[in-house]
Amino acid sequence: ALVDKGEHRHFMAKEIHEQPEVLGHAISAYVDPVGRKVVLPEGGIDFSKVTALTMSACGTAFYATLVAKYWFETYARLPVETDIASELRYRDVPYREGGAALFISQSGETADTLAALRDAKEAGQQVGAIVNVPESTIAREADALYPTHAGPEIGVASTKAFTCQLATLASLAIAAGVARGVLSREDEERLTGVLLEAPRHVAEMLHADKSLEAIAAEVATARDVLYLGRGGSYPLALEGALKLKEISYIHAEGYAAGELKHGPIALIDEAVPVVVLAPRDAVFDKTISNMHEVMARGGKCLLVSSAEGLAEAARGGKVWGEIAVPEVDPLIAPIVYSVPVQLLAYHAAVAKGTDVDQPRNLAKSVTVE
Ligand code: G6P
Repeated sequence: ALVDKGEHRHFMAKEIHEQPEVLGHAISAYVDPVGRKVVLPEGGIDFSKVTALTMSACGTAFYATLVAKYWFETYARLPVETDIASELRYRDVPYREGGAALFISQSGETADTLAALRDAKEAGQQVGAIVNVPESTIAREADALYPTHAGPEIGVASTKAFTCQLATLASLAIAAGVARGVLSREDEERLTGVLLEAPRHVAEMLHADKSLEAIAAEVATARDVLYLGRGGSYPLALEGALKLKEISYIHAEGYAAGELKHGPIALIDEAVPVVVLAPRDAVFDKTISNMHEVMARGGKCLLVSSAEGLAEAARGGKVWGEIAVPEVDPLIAPIVYSVPVQLLAYHAAVAKGTDVDQPRNLAKSVTVE
């Protein structure tokens, strides 16, 4: 094989640990570190003229579109719609004139994503592909190609491809903001500076790898696990739940923290771990107050936040478990918080003894409908 596991037990572990390096590749493909500006490939989407943006994908790549929606709205003030490709392709979408559509795929061969791309193209949208395999069908059929530079991903559960998709999408959102006159030159310098710091923070987070084993082993004994997040952390809650169920076969659900009282709070008891993803951003206090609602009902919460966030939250009572994440700018929080979410699922699966790289019934790439 061209790719081996090196010192790691599984490809998934190797790929998780490769992230600082491959994120560096992804970011340097789109950001000039000296000029502190975004540089997109020639002949790509002209965001200064785009009227609306549609994004679509399947699985983990779909969650990347949900994160990117926040970025394009905030930094480029662009109206965004996202949908799962298997839904989008059968909807009668009234695509807007002058719109662009981005399709995200690790393999570039996912049947539903390809079909949705073809529909959007036929509807006159400028189509961009964010793919990890540049020779793939989706890459070839798109008008503009934005490779994610994650290198070959072997583990069925996507890890480094996801964070590199995020890095690529963050670059595009900043570029769109600049092109649309929403971001000033100073904003661009600041945001690209923040993005360039992502690999370092991810590396720092990875140092905590071993220390997550014990809590993951406890999570592994649960029958159900709930993940909560708000804003950019809501898609990560979905991704965390997906990752856990894919490789450990534990039932897990991701929820927007604010939706808690509209259903999942009924599930809370001392047997259901609740993983709360709470970077210190504009909605931190809201998320923490949702967590306290869970704790007031006897739920056991595993809080994922920065040291500052953990300390602040502790004033409202002692949580069941804590995972400390570097304190980062909200722009890159989804990239950095991907790591604890991946490690938790990985170590829970290892604790259960499942086939981490080849989970039952799943395929790396779904090329049939
Ligand atoms: C499968 C894989 C997932 C992946 C999804 C989309 O379900 O198991 O890891 O996220 O397909 O694949 P793509 O290659 O389009 O990103």
